[in-house]
Amino acid sequence: KPYAEPYRPQVHFSPRQNWTNDPNGLVHFDGEYHLFFQYNPFGDKWGHMSWGHAVSSDLLHWKELPVALPEHDGEMIFTGSVVVDEHNTSGLCKDGKPCMVAIYTSHRPGNGREQRESQSIASSQDRGRTWQFYAGNPVLDLDMADFRDPNVSWNDQIHRWVMAVALPNEHKVAFYTSTDLKQWAKVSTFGPEGATGGQWECPDLLQVPADGGRKIWALKVGINPGALQGGSGEQYFLGNFDGREFHSLPGTPVRWTDYGKDSYCAISFNHLPPGEKPTLLGWMSNWQYADKLPTQPWRGQMTLPRRVVAVKDGDSFVLSEDPVTAPLHDGAARPIRKQLAAKQEIAELLSLESPMEMQLTFAPTDAESFGVRLYSDDSHWTEIGFDTAGHVVYADRIHAGVSPGENFLVRTDARTVATRPWNLKIVVDRSSVEVFAQDGTIAMTNLVLPPTSNVKAVVFREGGTKAIAVSGRSWRLKSIWG
Ligand code: FRU
Repeated sequence: KPYAEPYRPQVHFSPRQNWTNDPNGLVHFDGEYHLFFQYNPFGDKWGHMSWGHAVSSDLLHWKELPVALPEHDGEMIFTGSVVVDEHNTSGLCKDGKPCMVAIYTSHRPGNGREQRESQSIASSQDRGRTWQFYAGNPVLDLDMADFRDPNVSWNDQIHRWVMAVALPNEHKVAFYTSTDLKQWAKVSTFGPEGATGGQWECPDLLQVPADGGRKIWALKVGINPGALQGGSGEQYFLGNFDGREFHSLPGTPVRWTDYGKDSYCAISFNHLPPGEKPTLLGWMSNWQYADKLPTQPWRGQMTLPRRVVAVKDGDSFVLSEDPVTAPLHDGAARPIRKQLAAKQEIAELLSLESPMEMQLTFAPTDAESFGVRLYSDDSHWTEIGFDTAGHVVYADRIHAGVSPGENFLVRTDARTVATRPWNLKIVVDRSSVEVFAQDGTIAMTNLVLPPTSNVKAVVFREGGTKAIAVSGRSWRLKSIWG
């Protein structure tokens, strides 16, 4: 049965068959959310990169459509954006109606310096169902081997399109502007800054609502390898963008959009309906082992969509992410209320099956560590906990299930902030555990490969002398595949 195979995600998008990596061209248009994605139409390994396509009315229930942008003439279609050209600035929209324009990287494979990457465009007059490659492609060519992942959005300050695009080996994001999506003028570069261990890829420039009613700019950039947890991952900078230059706020530490191993190349949706918060969605995998995951007949899946805001953090700000799950809640929330007595080490909280969601808040405690273990069977569990002595929150999948290869059976850690509450929002699917800790200021996404879909949640504590109170809620989640 399709979508019922072992490990098949039930609340996350995955293609019915074959390989996917990065999400591409996330955009809302005419009542539909579009998810394009790096896709191999011919197999379950990376290759023949094309744009797959799916649409949704709620960011969760996806309907997969035929390939949108196929590999052609020896050129692969790498990561990029889609914009809605409301006023036909490109001249590519027919009959004066708004149309969709994709801006992507044309990748010509070659040995070493023979490889070529440039930026190209394509347009669609029928809500993304069919596409025409622009005859004047490429529209931006520096004759470079590595120059990719254009992230384009409309900028109200300068009334122009802005492109953030990666110079992977220079650890830079270059900014270009355009009035027509065809001619691009370079206005600045950002970087190197923060982590520079591997190639920079998949930039995303977004403006997020911040505490106090203002808005703040964020520049997110992928790095592979050299991420915090090893392999691929993503850091972000908060700062100012005037339509030309991005400057990060002085004194802000390097932060990561996700502190787990499995969130990469997230981009934000363009052209969201008014009032909808910026929304990030990423590829839920890591280049260290992505091609070894034991799933069939597909390989690769996306994270949940996450609404993003900025919240105060001392003198600065930090992003807070909140996954979209409400439309999937199956029935009313079940309340959680538990007390671990003074010397008690564990207590069972609930027993459900994935997909499920739980939210937990731990009252202030003197325990050295505490949290929740999610058992799939007696010998397999994922542990999510706060280590107050070490000032970290962690997700440990070492005992969760099988491993597809090296670098998988690990624990991921993120530094906590003592003044924020000890809370967790956890979404468990057939092959992933997404954690949002401390009011969503720490997102931690990890794949897991457990033997069953059971989720028996047990709270645990180590150390301390006083009782611990846990409260919260849980939900069964409905499958998005109906
Ligand atoms: C990131 C990435 C992008 C590139 C795409 C190719 O995962 O390497 O930089 O456009 O994947 O599939």
